[in-house]
Amino acid sequence: MDFEDIETVAVLGAGNMGHGIAEVAALAGYEVRMRDIKEEFVQNGYDNIEWSLNKLAEKDQLTQGEADDALDRIEALVDVEAAVGDADVIIEAVPEKMDIKKDVYTDVEQHAPADTLFATNTSSLSITELSEVTERPEQFCGMHFFNPPVRMQLVEVITGAHTSDETLDTIEQLAEEFGKTPVRVRKDSPGFIVNRILVPLMNEACWLVHDDVATIAEVDSTTKFDMGLPMGALELSDQVGNDVGLHVLEYMHETLGEAYDPCPLLEAKVEDEKLGKKTGEGFYDYDDGGADIPR
Ligand code: 3HC
Repeated sequence: MDFEDIETVAVLGAGNMGHGIAEVAALAGYEVRMRDIKEEFVQNGYDNIEWSLNKLAEKDQLTQGEADDALDRIEALVDVEAAVGDADVIIEAVPEKMDIKKDVYTDVEQHAPADTLFATNTSSLSITELSEVTERPEQFCGMHFFNPPVRMQLVEVITGAHTSDETLDTIEQLAEEFGKTPVRVRKDSPGFIVNRILVPLMNEACWLVHDDVATIAEVDSTTKFDMGLPMGALELSDQVGNDVGLHVLEYMHETLGEAYDPCPLLEAKVEDEKLGKKTGEGFYDYDDGGADIPR
């Protein structure tokens, strides 16, 4: 698949990342099919895109006409065949579990045209292992966006052991067409570049609170105002999703070793369904104003 031939992008998963990626692709002028397993999930993703586009229009970052046109380019679907049957590129953003992703690829392989490229938005899992459940591992790579996709500039383009240079070039060009800055990750390694750095940082922030070294406010004040992060470390964990961070850590712990041992405080947040912004509560209560980090 040449970059110039790409017209239709299918996004699998309408959650935090999936709906954001669909929004970015539609804003860049592509026809988008956004698919999830339940009507309620796709509707929720669609509503979130509508909210975000209207917010961007309110802030004059788009005209209302551009926002409406982008929304019109998005079809929200549950049927897999309808979602991927004419897709030139499929960007998969389903939950961060190896088995779930493998099942999705096995299913999608049967309905996608032979020249369709597969790109996974996995945060950490092995691109090579995922590609090997398909019959097109050379047409498979990582395309990792950051949360929120419509605001974050970087996209990691990750090579698997079988990925062809043509696939990497095309996906990089697509990322640029999306208005993003791609960085090529030359080796398939857990967490790639950003999450290898950022997820342990968020975990260490949890350990500091867990071990009573500092309060949430002290950790976030220091990371935001003194270390120069755009958000406090625990506020960022809420933004990313505490469940997403935990899944990445568990995988890094399993594959890279002890240093990545997940903090029990993070595990407890996930156990209690306090997943962060998306559930209204995490380290902060978002129904009550969210993070108000003292200087
Ligand atoms: N669409 C439209 N508007 C949005 C939005 C979205 N998706 N998300 C937030 N906004 C709006 C808010 O509602 C708020 O609106 P308001 O001003 O009317 O209340 C406004 O944007 C907030 O934006 P500000 O301009 O005040 O804030 P900033 O310019 O500081 O930017 C930010 C917000 C871009 C999120 C910034 O805080 C940031 O860069 N945070 C760090 C995010 C980050 O590092 N993400 C990567 C995490 S790692 C990851 O995702 C990988 C994964 O695999 C784990």
